[in-house]
Amino acid sequence: MKFKDLLEAGRYPELEARLAEFLAVPSVQIESSGTAALVIALNCLKKLSSRREVIVPAYTCPLVALAVEQAGLELKLCDLKPNSYDLDPTILSNLACARTLCVIPTHLSGLPSNLAETLSFARQAGAYVIEDAAQALGAVWNGRPVGTVGDIGVFSLTCGKGLTVGEGGVLVAPDPDLRAKLLETSRELVRADLYKELSQIALLLGYTFFYRPFALRFLYGQPLRRSLEKGDLVQAVGDRFALPIALTSVGKWRKQVAAGALNRLKSAIESNTDRGRKRAALLNQIAGVTALTESEGSSGTWPFISLLFASEAMRDRVLSSLWTSGLGVTRLFIHDLTGYDYLKGIVPATAVPNATSFAQRSLTISNSSFVSDQDFETIKAVISASTAQGSRNLEREEILLRAKTIS
Ligand SMILES: Cc1ncc(COP(=O)(O)O)c(C=O)c1O
Repeated sequence: MKFKDLLEAGRYPELEARLAEFLAVPSVQIESSGTAALVIALNCLKKLSSRREVIVPAYTCPLVALAVEQAGLELKLCDLKPNSYDLDPTILSNLACARTLCVIPTHLSGLPSNLAETLSFARQAGAYVIEDAAQALGAVWNGRPVGTVGDIGVFSLTCGKGLTVGEGGVLVAPDPDLRAKLLETSRELVRADLYKELSQIALLLGYTFFYRPFALRFLYGQPLRRSLEKGDLVQAVGDRFALPIALTSVGKWRKQVAAGALNRLKSAIESNTDRGRKRAALLNQIAGVTALTESEGSSGTWPFISLLFASEAMRDRVLSSLWTSGLGVTRLFIHDLTGYDYLKGIVPATAVPNATSFAQRSLTISNSSFVSDQDFETIKAVISASTAQGSRNLEREEILLRAKTIS
């Protein structure tokens, strides 16, 4: 968001029309957050079917679990494929059944998820598909914008997501009847809230003024250090949320500001993609480290780079040097959905070993232009040194073990 966008509010066609053009869909529906959009989508599907189960990836934003709870539906966790954000197709094929209302494939980290398998198993079970593209506005899967392939697509317009209205969300649906039902559900559930609107305007202004490296380091750095000192990792990454999810309207001015910012979205995504791919390729040269990349035929938005390490200890060594460095290194979600105490009672106890392992071995590196090439070299050097140390430790342990076995 730039000052120019604030000054030019109202100069461009409506956000809805511009976003519809950007996504090549007939129309879009703006809601008060990505989570609110999800709550509305789920309530809408609930009216169309007597099925009540919702299948979500076991590693995703905790807000998704809260949205399912608020809609009065039953959560089912699907584990991930090993070392991937994708749903495990074998587990999904066993879970999807006549009770499944919908499946929510999720394009985490702006990387398009493999929709072919998910769509096929969902269709076989007669279930709907809601694409969670909260982190992936502008990503493309098989030549089609993500979010527009399933029955319903959800995007987030919350600060930090490429295009923002403060807090906001978007709903799309290819089927005109479903679009009409989504609009009807929104009219039933959404209320205007002047206090919330004013606080969102303040948030948008604050975001425009303070979204600079120095301010971010100060605003995020202090609370982060405090949370880490207390050992509160969930708080450190902002993973703690509460019900109810507010379902409120989004004011005209906030939408007008975003309509102007949309002018830059395509070129911002292009340069992010270029930078993200290059940096991921460099990171993939380090032994013991995997930077996640797009699958064949898809194109991501690369808000950050997701890194998986050979072990949790290796990942933690890197974080101990870089988490509070102000270089944009952090974790995405601290746990798989079964790991949050505050979600007990909402999330069924399910063994999801791949999701658990993903949470334990991953970190993210911001792919913002604020992370200069020099910053990136520093990050890469720390990762190389930490993983090399890890390999040496492992070698030493193996030698000791061998020595013990011989004696
Ligand atoms: C995967 C995913 N789904 C849903 C959401 C919810 O979006 P919002 O923050 O706009 O409510 C988020 C938020 O980061 C997310 O990462």
